[in-house]
Amino acid sequence: MTTPEAASSTAAANTAAPVNVLLVGGGGREHALGAAISRSPRLGKLFITHPENPGLAALGTPVGVPVSGAEVYRLEQVCDRERIGLVVVGPEGPLAEGFADKLATPDRLVFGPRKDGALLESDKAWCKTLLREASVPTAEGREFTDSENALAYATSRAEPPVIKASGLAAGKGVFVPESIKEASDAIRLIMDERAFGDAGKKILVEERLTGREVSVLAITDGRSILVLPPCQDHKRLFDNDIGPNTGGMGAFCPSDVIDDATMSCIEREVLVPTVDALKRDGIDYRGVLYAGLMLTHAGPKVLEFNVRFGDPECQALMVRLRSDVIELMLAACTRKLDKIEVEWDPRPSVCVVLASEGYPSKPRKGTPIEGIEDAEALEDVTVFHAGTAQLRTGEIVTAGGRVLNVVALGETLAEARERAYDAAGRIRFEGMQFRSDIAAQTAAASSRR
Ligand code: AMP
Ligand code: GLY
Repeated sequence: MTTPEAASSTAAANTAAPVNVLLVGGGGREHALGAAISRSPRLGKLFITHPENPGLAALGTPVGVPVSGAEVYRLEQVCDRERIGLVVVGPEGPLAEGFADKLATPDRLVFGPRKDGALLESDKAWCKTLLREASVPTAEGREFTDSENALAYATSRAEPPVIKASGLAAGKGVFVPESIKEASDAIRLIMDERAFGDAGKKILVEERLTGREVSVLAITDGRSILVLPPCQDHKRLFDNDIGPNTGGMGAFCPSDVIDDATMSCIEREVLVPTVDALKRDGIDYRGVLYAGLMLTHAGPKVLEFNVRFGDPECQALMVRLRSDVIELMLAACTRKLDKIEVEWDPRPSVCVVLASEGYPSKPRKGTPIEGIEDAEALEDVTVFHAGTAQLRTGEIVTAGGRVLNVVALGETLAEARERAYDAAGRIRFEGMQFRSDIAAQTAAASSRR
């Protein structure tokens, strides 16, 4: 086991020598992280776990072993052989499976919490208890392991409550019903039908909050907190926030929904007490702390915590990061976050997600994509690969639900938005879906000011 002291004495952290990095994960978030890592003067060699993502394949060397909880030893062997100094874990799954516990050594740092810290996301009921004990404002809720009790509680409520599978359910385990009947159906689906497997052994039934939703991401080294510029995600599939919930159809950064006073309040009342509570529980948390919040009339309240960068928030953030991402991650891993300055491009960014036909329920795969190069030719536009594959012929095809992330910077949010949509308009594939209103409200409001 790596003690904090041992970790802080690693070669990677203490010298300016090049660091070999292993990036775990294969979506648009990881392509954006990989691109930022590749820009770092500290990078030795970048290794990737998902070469089937053509964006990642162009950046790093494939490790050739699976990302699997049961076979982490194979990644460990690669890390030893390739002298990896820093492992960056993108998605929550491997963190919840304890990749950070298994891959960290005195000579190898892991950016991302261990299994105990990852419980913040992998066990919503545990997270709720921690928040309650730390007096962090969050929706009132109760946990249940028995569906009859859950149903009795839900039907006794005046308003339909929100129903959440406590475990990881690939972003699909949360139901915001319009009626008590729908709430009851969700309870049965999760607990009795086990639609999300063991993730539904325990559920949370909680009050429905109203207000504007924001994501505040921070990086922490377990003591200090570096709050990142606020982002706004667009979770529903269709314009005007209608349609099914998705992983996120677009994002922009910074979000002006949060003023400075609210940001300070979120830092003081949410982030600091959460990091303190983790510390008090003996959890050594180093990595991203992502708070999903509702700005209610009674102030910001936590909807959920994630233990990794948001996707697509990460894409909107990474194009604005001017500082060295490896230095930033090393600082988080070695408790030196308070010693570094982080610089952001002052220009706002907008990320538009291009999704495949049938997303989110049944994404169509194998559809040829055209125009990626045309889109990238535009100034200050980056296209990240999220769910694509490259055929032997060189052709790029759809291979997942969220296919491409088109990200643009602009002098104003309106300009960034215009560029992102201009670029998105150059990309074509059959059945392509995207929202046309990413950042629209805020861009319109700021151009009126
Ligand atoms: P989560 O995965 O917990 O963020 O939930 C997914 C989405 O469900 C959130 O982004 C919110 O839009 C919505 N949601 C979750 N919890 C609540 C709540 N207590 N009240 C209202 N909406 C919620
Ligand atoms: N965009 C939301 C998430 O990454 O959870």
